[in-house]
Amino acid sequence: MRILLTGGAGYIGSHIAVELLNADHDVGIVDDLSNSSPIALQKVSSITGKSTDFFELDCRDTPGLTGVFRSFQPEAVIHLAGLKAVGESVEDPLRYYDTNINATLSLVHVMEQAGVTQLIFSSSATVYGDPEFLPLTEQARTGIGISNPYGWTKFMIEQILIDLATSQPSWKIALLRYFNPVGAHESGLIGEDPQGIPNNLMPFVAQVAAGRRDIIEVFGDDYDTNDGTGVRDYIHVMDLASGHLAALENLTPGVSTYNLGTGQGTSVLEIIHAFELACGHPLAYKISPRRLGDLPSTYCNADKARRELGWSPTRSLTQACHDSWLWQSTNPEGYST
Ligand code: NAD
Ligand code: WQD
Repeated sequence: MRILLTGGAGYIGSHIAVELLNADHDVGIVDDLSNSSPIALQKVSSITGKSTDFFELDCRDTPGLTGVFRSFQPEAVIHLAGLKAVGESVEDPLRYYDTNINATLSLVHVMEQAGVTQLIFSSSATVYGDPEFLPLTEQARTGIGISNPYGWTKFMIEQILIDLATSQPSWKIALLRYFNPVGAHESGLIGEDPQGIPNNLMPFVAQVAAGRRDIIEVFGDDYDTNDGTGVRDYIHVMDLASGHLAALENLTPGVSTYNLGTGQGTSVLEIIHAFELACGHPLAYKISPRRLGDLPSTYCNADKARRELGWSPTRSLTQACHDSWLWQSTNPEGYST
C-alpha cells in the first residue's frame, strides 16, 4: 500500500517507518521537524535499504497537505504528528490544542477531499484518566480525571474521529491507545532523542547510564504498589510499530479501539535495575516527592488486539533496556552526535 505517516521523523514514527518499509509498503512522511531530525530518516533508509518520500510540512497547512496528497496519492494514513510533552501542555495549553486538534482536522479534511478514508490514530493510555479498574480494557470509561491539556487533546481527537465515522460510513479508523513506549530499533541506529531534559523515565535513565546526567529522581516511593514506586506498562517501540501494521491490515468500517501494551506492570525501581543489567553498572538514584498528576499504577489488558489483530508484543523489558542502551551508548547526544 501507499501509506502516509505524519510525524514519521519522530521517535515512534521512525520505528513504524522501518516496519512499513520492511513489509514492502511505499511510505510518505509528513513532518515539520519541530521535535525531530531528518537524520532519523537517513537512518531508516540505512536499516531498510529503502527510502521514504519526505515532505517537510506542518499538518495544519491544509493547502500544503492537499499538495502532498496529490503528489503521493496515499491509500491510508497513520497519524502521529503532534506535541506530546505533558508539562509543557499545562504551561501552554493553547499551543497544544491548536497543534494537535487543528493538525488532525486539517488532515481529515484533506483525506475526505481526496477520498482516502483509512486512518490509524496515535492515541494514548492517558485518555483513561484516573483508571476505573486495572488492567484497563478498551471498555473502561475515558475522560474522567485527565490531568493535562495534552491528554485532553487525545480524548477530543478520539471523539472527533468517532463523530466523523458515524456521519460517513466509508471511514475505517483505528484508535491505538499506546501505553509507555520504550526501547529502540535493535540496530541502535534509531531511538528516542528528547530535546532538553527528558520528561519520561526511560530516556532519563538512559542518559544517566551514559553519564549525560548525574542522578535519577524517583518520583515517590509511597504509592500502594509492590515497592512503593509508580507502576507502568512499558512496551518495546518495535512491538508498538508492528501493532500499526496489524491494525492497517485489519481495518474495518467504523471506529475500532485497541490498547497497545504488554499487560505487565513494572515499577520505577524495576526499570532502574533492569537498565543496570543492560548497561553493566549501577545507576545513581534518589527518592524525590511524587510528581503532580502522576497515577500510582496503570497497565492494560491487550487481549482485544491479540484477538482481532492477531498482534501481541514479543520483546521483553530486558530487550528494551538492551536496545535503548545500544542506541544511547552509540549516540550519546542523539542525532546531533
Ligand atoms: P515525537 O515528538 O518524537 O514525534 C512526533 C513528530 O510529530 C515529531 O517528529 C514532530 O516533529 C512532528 N510534529 C509535531 N507537530 C507537527 C505538526 N503540526 N505537523 C507535522 N509534524 C508535526 O513523539 P513520539 O513519542 O514519536 O509520539 C508520536 C505520537 O504518539 C504522538 O501523537 C504522541 O502523542 C503519541 N504518543 C506518544 C507516547 C509516548 O510516550 N512517546 C505515548 C502515547 C502516545
Ligand atoms: C513513568 C513512571 C513516573 C521520570 C507519560 C504521559 C503519557 C504518555 C507516556 C503520551 C512514573 C516515574 C518518571 C523520572 C520517575 N505519553 N518517573 N522519574 O507519566 O506514565 O506517561 O508518558 O501519551 O501521556 O503522561 O510516563 O515515563 O513520565 O513516567 O520516577 O525522572 O516513572 O513518576 O511513575 P507516564 P513517564
